Amino acid sequence: MTLRIGDTAPDFDVPTTQGDISFHDWMGDNWCFFFSHPADFTPVCTTEMGRTAQLSAEFKDRNVKPLGLSTDGVQEHLEWIKDVDDTQNTQVDFPIVADSDKKIAELYDMIHPNESDTAAVRSVFIIDPDKKIRLTMTYPMSVGRNFDEILRAIDALQAGDTNGIATPADWSKGEKVIIPPSVSNEDAKQKFPQGFEEVRPYLRYTNIG
Ligand code: BEZ
Repeated sequence: MTLRIGDTAPDFDVPTTQGDISFHDWMGDNWCFFFSHPADFTPVCTTEMGRTAQLSAEFKDRNVKPLGLSTDGVQEHLEWIKDVDDTQNTQVDFPIVADSDKKIAELYDMIHPNESDTAAVRSVFIIDPDKKIRLTMTYPMSVGRNFDEILRAIDALQAGDTNGIATPADWSKGEKVIIPPSVSNEDAKQKFPQGFEEVRPYLRYTNIG
């Protein structure tokens, strides 16, 4: 199933390393960073799981619950987590979905047969509290993801929701933001009393603090 930005993230019931979950209920009013990886006990995946755990406080600050997935079983995940904790100097504190029958991987189109018939590629779904898919990324098995970018993209989505703005290339928190073209200058004066800079009629910057 091809899932697109704006689609509702499909719900599912599944065993994880922290017990059975019903996905939407488990998310509650939080955001979710749902990410797949090819297999347990593999090097790139070990660093990604470790990095997610090391960033636990950053995800919490943003009301984001991480949820990992691979097509291995719970026992294997639990054994592997011990290695992740040991080698990455951390404690994996988020659940990892055990998707041995590949049902969830297929539901979320995480298996790309020209890469592997059986293992998931490195998919990312950022899902908002309304359960809408807000951002996707897909990386091949050989390339570990950039977790600074994942946090930056979440910041941009949340800043956009809160302030009705868009973010420019390479934006990071605290930098100036863009007033969308759909907002007239008259409306922008009301919405952004702090003022704005008009570089072109379609390119206007403001600050959101
Ligand atoms: C890895 O996590 O290192 C990996 C997994 C599957 C294929 C290639 C690399």
